[in-house]
Amino acid sequence: MEITAIPFVHQTEVVSKKLFDDHLKLYQGYVDKTNEIGLKLAASSRADLAAANATYSIYRGLKRGESFALDGVILHELYFQNLVSEKSAMGKRINHIFDQNWGSFDGWKDAFAAAAKTARGWCIFAYEQRTKTFRNIVLDSHDDGLVCGAYPLLVLDMYEHAYMLDYETDKATYIDRFVADIPWSVVERRSAAIMR
Ligand SMILES: [Fe+2]
Repeated sequence: MEITAIPFVHQTEVVSKKLFDDHLKLYQGYVDKTNEIGLKLAASSRADLAAANATYSIYRGLKRGESFALDGVILHELYFQNLVSEKSAMGKRINHIFDQNWGSFDGWKDAFAAAAKTARGWCIFAYEQRTKTFRNIVLDSHDDGLVCGAYPLLVLDMYEHAYMLDYETDKATYIDRFVADIPWSVVERRSAAIMR
């Protein structure tokens, strides 16, 4: 099934329009690759399937690329959505989650910022369904580090392309600006969807 890119618009003070528009081009690339890989998988021959191998095979390349490209699409959409949505106040439900798990919002913020600084790819505030716990999860690439069943509530892109143009190497200020403008209604909506 072919997918199409969501037309996100620069409505944020966290990053510049130039950086944001360049970032959208990367996102479009993952959408295109997801579609290209999907077509190639569908067209795989019996010989391709028979040659499938964990060391090297065309089929392995397609399957690994499938996860990487599709995760690239999904993570960027979650990130852009919680980057450009209008800033909104934190509700009692999310505030309570932070109080219970990190002592306070500031406790969570410090832990999230520390996790983000360690990330080579993504930092995600997530609800993990097996343990029914909230966690800040670190990914070193789109398909490396995500805990199975962990549902993303807030997604932060920590690849250098996400901040370098505006913040140079100052990750801490990028993270602070991101956290200061979180549209909490988006986090609330995502948590309500998974915790019914
Ligand atoms: Fe990115």
